[in-house]
Amino acid sequence: MATALIVLAAGMGTRMNSDLPKVMHEIAGAPLFAHALASGSALAPERAVLVVGHGADMVEAAAKDLDPDINIAVQEDQLGTGHAVAQARAALDGFEGDAIVLYGDTPFIRPETLDAMTAARAAGSDVVVLGFEAADPGRYGRLIVKDGALNRIVEFKDASDEERAVTLCNSGVIAANSDVLFDLIDAVGNNNASGEYYLTDIVEVARTKGLTASVVTCDEAETLGINSRAELAAAEQVFQTRARDAALEDGVTLIARDTVYFAHDTVIGRDTVVEPNVVFGPGVTVESGALIRAFSHLEGCHVSRGGVVGPYARLRPGAELANDAKVGNFVEIKNAQIEEGAKVNHLSYVGDARVGEHANIGAGTITCNYDGVSKHHTDIGARTFIGSNTCLVAPVSIGDEAMTATGTVVTKDVPAGAMAVGRAKMEVKPGLAIKLFEKLKAAKARRQKGS
Ligand code: UD1
Ligand code: CA
Repeated sequence: MATALIVLAAGMGTRMNSDLPKVMHEIAGAPLFAHALASGSALAPERAVLVVGHGADMVEAAAKDLDPDINIAVQEDQLGTGHAVAQARAALDGFEGDAIVLYGDTPFIRPETLDAMTAARAAGSDVVVLGFEAADPGRYGRLIVKDGALNRIVEFKDASDEERAVTLCNSGVIAANSDVLFDLIDAVGNNNASGEYYLTDIVEVARTKGLTASVVTCDEAETLGINSRAELAAAEQVFQTRARDAALEDGVTLIARDTVYFAHDTVIGRDTVVEPNVVFGPGVTVESGALIRAFSHLEGCHVSRGGVVGPYARLRPGAELANDAKVGNFVEIKNAQIEEGAKVNHLSYVGDARVGEHANIGAGTITCNYDGVSKHHTDIGARTFIGSNTCLVAPVSIGDEAMTATGTVVTKDVPAGAMAVGRAKMEVKPGLAIKLFEKLKAAKARRQKGS
C-alpha cells in the first residue's frame, strides 16, 4: 500500500534554551529532523511532508538541501501536534493510502519497527501507535490499554496519579489511513492542561467512532525524544554506541572504541584501523586497510586503500587521498587530491591543490592558496620533491619530477625536471661567532657592574 510520511518539526523546544529551532540541533552531524526523515524514508514513501513553524525558513532550507522533493507545510502558530498534522492535509491532497506520523525530535526509530506498524495496519487496526515500556516514564504520554486494545493516550500533564503509574509510553509515531487520520484530527479539541490540539487524542476519538486502535512496541532506545540539552547529549551517546558497534561488526578495528566519534554517514572499510581519539565529521569515506592514527579529525573527505592519516592530522572537505597516500602529523589538507603513494608527512597545509603520485612534500610546506580575496590552485606533479618549508604561492604549478630547494618561495611555474631555488645566498664567516659571543658577554658584564 502507498505510504505518506509526515514529520512534525514546527515546535520551538523551549527546554533546549536555544536560539536555534529544536529540530536543527544535531546528532552525529545531522539535524534531528533529518534523522527522523531518514527513518521514514525506509518505507519508500510516495510523498514526504515536513511540517515546519518555529524557524521555518531555516528548517525548510536545510530540508531542501537534503531532499529537493520534500513537501513543506507551514504551521504558523504551534497549537499542538494534532494541529501540526492538520497542516499536512493540503500536501497530501489526492493521496490515497496510509500516513505515518513521525516526530522530528525522535531520531532513532528503526525501519523494522515501522514495518511492524505497517503489518499491524494490514492486520486490521484503524490506528496503530508505537509504544514502549519506559524504565523511567518521566513526561511521556501514557498508553491506556484495556482488554488488549488501546483505549486512549493521556499526556503526562493531564494524567491522574494512577495513569502516571503506567509505564507503557507513547513514542509519537502513529499510522492510519490518511483520510481517516485527517477526519479524526478534525474532531480533536484543545480542552487540556496545555490548551493544545494533541495528536494523541485521535485514539479516543477513533474509539468513539467505532474504529480500533492498537499498540506496537519497540525498544525504549528507539523512542528517545529530545526536549533538552541533557536528552540531546544522551541521544548522541546512544548514536555513538550504535555506530561503534556497527563499525566493529563491519570489520573495523577500534583500539579505544569509546574515544572514536562517528557522523551519521561515516563509511569505513574492513580491516581499517582507527587509533584512539579520532573524530569523523560528516561526509567521510575510508576504504579498506587504511590506518587513521590518533587525534585526527576528518570531514568531507575520502581515504583510499592503504592510506595513512595522522597522528594529529586534519582532513577538511574535498581532501581525497588515493591508494597508499600518507598524510602525517600536524598536516591540514583541504580540497586537494593526494595521488597514489604521495606523502605529506609533517607540518604542512595543502589546500586547493593536486599532489601528483609519489610526490614527496617536505616538512612545513604551505600552499599559499588565498590572496585575501580569492582562492587559487596549486598543481604539484608526479614524483616531485618539494623541499622543506617551501611556500607555493598559488596559482602555480610544479611539473613532474621537479624539485624545490628548502625555504623557496615559489611564485613562478616550475617546468618538469627543473629545480627552483629562491632564497638568500648563505655565507660562512670563519671565527665570527666567537668574536660576537665575546662582545655580547662583555656588554652583559658592563651592565651588571653598573646596576
Ligand atoms: C509528545 C507526545 C507524547 C509522547 C512524546 C514522545 C503529544 C501531545 N504528546 O510529547 O505523548 O510521549 O511526544 O516523544 O503529541 N510539534 C509541532 N507543532 C506543534 C507542537 C509540536 O510541529 O504545535 C512537533 C515538535 O517540533 C516535535 C514533535 O512535534 O518534534 C513533538 O512535540 P513535543 O512538544 O516535543 O511533544 P512532547 O511533549 O514531547
Ligand atoms: Ca518531544
